[in-house]
Amino acid sequence: MLSPAIHKLIKPAIFVVALVPLAWIIYRTVNNDLGANPIETLNRYTGDWVLRFLMITLAVTPLRKLTGWNGLLRYRRMLGLFAFFYVCLHFLSYAWLDQNFVLTDIIKDVIKRPYITVGFASFLMLIPLAVTSTNAMVRRLGAKRWQTLHRLVYAIGIGGVVHFLWLVKSDIREPLVYAIILTLLLGYRFWTRVHSSQNTVASGTVP
Ligand code: HEM
Repeated sequence: MLSPAIHKLIKPAIFVVALVPLAWIIYRTVNNDLGANPIETLNRYTGDWVLRFLMITLAVTPLRKLTGWNGLLRYRRMLGLFAFFYVCLHFLSYAWLDQNFVLTDIIKDVIKRPYITVGFASFLMLIPLAVTSTNAMVRRLGAKRWQTLHRLVYAIGIGGVVHFLWLVKSDIREPLVYAIILTLLLGYRFWTRVHSSQNTVASGTVP
């Protein structure tokens, strides 16, 4: 669809754009512009970007199928790794600014508050995906096993949305928007899978 020269430009461009949210929050921090509750602002800001990058990563496959632009797949790994990068910052801001790196307090909090439990579980599930994101790891695991492992991203997406829904106290509009986007993204996959298996049965290749 696009020339190799353009593809070569898109990757670094996505990389730079994906770092803009980080640059923006650093700028605001340096300029003392984090509002009345800077810790909450940092926690929420980084959490928003984790969820955004998760949704963007999950949108790659449906977009590829709908547009026929297979080249989109080249950017999926980087987008997923940015979700991981932002969740590391999100966890760091929580563990450092909220909990002062006191491990026992963090463990107690993860056990006690259900929305933290769900967020933490999603974070833990993202680690093996980030670790196995290289081509060498795909070869080592084998495509089938790698694909099965990477289906964890669906559970991570659901966990992220549940975490957000659970933590808001009254106005659930924003997490609800994410819930709808996630339902569409996962629903599309389910729908195409059911359709393709029906077509295989209809064409007689499955007994
Ligand atoms: C994939 C994993 C995660 C996702 C997608 C995620 C996403 C989010 C989102 C969207 C928000 C709300 C932002 C807003 O209010 O606009 C949030 C807030 C928050 N998250 Fe996470 N999060 C994840 C993991 C974690 C982990 C591992 C922890 C800590 C152990 C954590 C702790 C918090 C805290 C403390 C808040 C702020 C709550 C408040 O200010 O009331 N999250 N997160």
